[in-house]
Amino acid sequence: MPSSKAVPSSRTHLPEWRAVADHARVSGQLPLRELFAADHHRAERLSFEACGLFVDHSKQRLNDGTLPLLVQLAQACGLRDRIDAMFAGGRINATENRAVLHVALRAPRTESITLDGQDVVPGVHEVLDRMAAFCDRVRKGEWLGHTGKRIRTVVNIGIGGSDLGPVMAYTALRHYADRELAFRFVSNVDGTDFAEAVHGLDPAETLFIVSSKTFTTQETLANARTARAWALAALGAEAAVAKHFVAVSTNAKEVAGFGIDTANMFGFWDWVGGRYSMDSAIGLSTMLAIGPERFRELLAGFHAMDEHFRTADFEQNLPVLQGLIAVWNTTFLGAHTIAVLPYDQYLARFPAYLQQLAMESNGKRVTLDGRVIDDYETCPVYWGEPGTNGQHSFYQLIHQGTRLIPCDFIGFLKSLNPVGRHHDLLMANCFAQAEALAFGKTTAEVRADGVPEDLVAHKTFPGNRPSTTILAERLTPHVLGSLVALYEHAVFTAGAIWDVNPFDQWGVELGKVLANRIVPELESGTEPTLDHHDPSTAALIRRYRAR
Ligand code: F6P
Repeated sequence: MPSSKAVPSSRTHLPEWRAVADHARVSGQLPLRELFAADHHRAERLSFEACGLFVDHSKQRLNDGTLPLLVQLAQACGLRDRIDAMFAGGRINATENRAVLHVALRAPRTESITLDGQDVVPGVHEVLDRMAAFCDRVRKGEWLGHTGKRIRTVVNIGIGGSDLGPVMAYTALRHYADRELAFRFVSNVDGTDFAEAVHGLDPAETLFIVSSKTFTTQETLANARTARAWALAALGAEAAVAKHFVAVSTNAKEVAGFGIDTANMFGFWDWVGGRYSMDSAIGLSTMLAIGPERFRELLAGFHAMDEHFRTADFEQNLPVLQGLIAVWNTTFLGAHTIAVLPYDQYLARFPAYLQQLAMESNGKRVTLDGRVIDDYETCPVYWGEPGTNGQHSFYQLIHQGTRLIPCDFIGFLKSLNPVGRHHDLLMANCFAQAEALAFGKTTAEVRADGVPEDLVAHKTFPGNRPSTTILAERLTPHVLGSLVALYEHAVFTAGAIWDVNPFDQWGVELGKVLANRIVPELESGTEPTLDHHDPSTAALIRRYRAR
């Protein structure tokens, strides 16, 4: 008897999917030179603006039909319902049975967002207010260490979302930071990370923030224990912990078990994913650096983009378009990676932050209803470095390699550090790279330069390499919030098209389990049985033990 259980249908069966796929075959290779020549208003038509961000998609491989077809696909994939469900507190993280409400973290006090009949916004502001009071005390020198000295250095201990957001935000907003306070970040379980982070620090003037959503993460707990031992070795009394350690977590029990008074804990909730948590209490180091007021500006920037994402028509919706173009480039045009290229040194850690945001969210091969995806590609690899540095290392491949690498250029009209001609030089390079990628240099143009025939092919730039350019007036907390929210919601949009759950991360589990099994094999004094390992792993373990 045939099973009554319906076989989940692939996105590829949607007529709207097939329409985009057909369109990609016919139009996906159209040269940007021709597209621009045919439409003098292309740059204006394909540029969009909201929340302080100007986004030019005109150098993407899009013709008149592309965005309408992608928008139809988004509608057919139920993107509108998914957005509404997220903002309404629906348990859209189905595999973990959780709501996804990072948007509530930046909702103003006057708004209400309910989860299971309860408004979560007052709780968010209660924590923000506690954070603000704490940060004011530290910043004003009123929070004193165990020996009565003021705090001079803040060390955030965390990993993944409990590190990348804080590091990225601190680096990005350093211009606004209180320079009387130094900030360091420890994430790796490699002891070198801790040793270098505390090098030269006075324990009596150091405050550790142990940041971990679960407070069970091996690396973070190992670093936190080492930090406690380091601090107590100098400060003596256990009572010093209360003055030199605070925790950020959802897990009060584990925090107390570790020995940090929960009065010194700033909480958040299971409906905030780690990679969506930089604006929760996980942003404590950010608030300590830039102060509560500027942190609120950051939240306002996030919120502005949330509202735009929630309400704007898809045709004008920045995150929707960004997400759809990522799907277009990767799933339909075959790109395997997307390069994120900020032309601003303050955004040096933005690509690393985006890697977790995008790849831990959408790096999935199973649909929400459990079907293995074998007929289309999902999330690409995100990577990047600030310009102009990257130009002198990997841009060669983007310009003339055999691979298609769509790029996101991010730049600012005004520098926070206007020094001579530097900003003009920086932005000239940013604009030039996007131009060179799109239009290239033809063989005829190379010949016209008098290049010897044997070098003509080498000096030809094929062009037609897609990019988006994102510009803002200057890098402020508000703009950073909008920029991060742009990518958060673009990732959400792409996840909806790929039909995956962007909010779980089961793929990180197996390695953790195996590492926990190997730890005693490395530490045990007696020769362990390694029969349960493959021959390669067993040999590596033996070699390590024989050191
Ligand atoms: O292992 C992956 C992960 O769970 C990430 O999703 C998370 O951001 C990181 O580890 C750190 O987790 P926690 O904040 O619970 O220590």
